[in-house]
Amino acid sequence: MSIPHVLVTGGATGIGLAITQHLLSKGMRVSVCSRRPEPLAAVAELGAQVLRWDLTQTDGLVKEFAPLTHLVHCAGNDNNAPIGSWHRSAFQDTLALHAVATAMLMQDWATQAPLGGCFVGVASTLGRRSAPGKAAYAAAKAAMLSICQSGAMELAPQGLRVNAVLPGVVETEMTRKPRSPGADIDAQLAALAALHPLGRLGSTSEVAVAVAYLLEAQWTTGAELVVDGGLSL
Ligand SMILES: NC(=O)c1ccc[n+]([C@@H]2O[C@H](COP(=O)([O-])OP(=O)(O)OC[C@H]3O[C@@H](n4cnc5c(N)ncnc54)[C@H](OP(=O)(O)O)[C@@H]3O)[C@@H](O)[C@H]2O)c1
Repeated sequence: MSIPHVLVTGGATGIGLAITQHLLSKGMRVSVCSRRPEPLAAVAELGAQVLRWDLTQTDGLVKEFAPLTHLVHCAGNDNNAPIGSWHRSAFQDTLALHAVATAMLMQDWATQAPLGGCFVGVASTLGRRSAPGKAAYAAAKAAMLSICQSGAMELAPQGLRVNAVLPGVVETEMTRKPRSPGADIDAQLAALAALHPLGRLGSTSEVAVAVAYLLEAQWTTGAELVVDGGLSL
């Protein structure tokens, strides 16, 4: 049996890096794309194939890595803007990266994926219920979930699977950004942790385990796997 080849977008930092490390530890072949050269160089040292790519545009990306067994779309940006500070370009970029890229990558992956292959969208609990300041991000993650549902239905007859994972708040570069000028990051993270019934933030490796499960669970498609310390309860 050939070794599964997985492309992890945004797989050089945060949750994506944990996914890359976990899949490499399971003996999979892993490729990674994102924009900054330093994290990509570090992940290449771990054994991943890497390519610099801005995922607001996806034409030709799957061809660079094909044949791919699985694709995990994890690249994302955070967009904190309350109404009054909404900008057309911020909505367009956020939707391009999370939603349009999901659709286009899934389409290209499906043309070459083998039976049993799986596409995983790294969404968010905010894709089900928004929060103040999160309009663009939540809309983009909601669209990602909807596109994953459509893809799961349309690709099942080909034996291809599409799933999503919905993390609560996980401590990464993204969540360590100050939400307001001069904010105390530790206080900000403690306040976020307190929202989770399990009383803490998630770890990147906890999300990675969920993604690996979805890649391997051959009778699972159209799933929205919530990994959120009870945040959605
Ligand atoms: N942390 C959380 O609490 C949380 C919760 C729910 C969902 N998520 C989702 O989990 C995913 C990973 O987030 P994270 O928390 O691990 O944050 P992160 O460390 O900032 O990771 C985001 C990754 O996406 C890449 N990226 C961003 N914009 C890109 C672009 N235009 N083209 C290519 N790559 C791009 C970044 O690399 P470059 O900047 O080098 O391109 C980075 O590696 C995101 O989709 C996020 O929405 C996170």
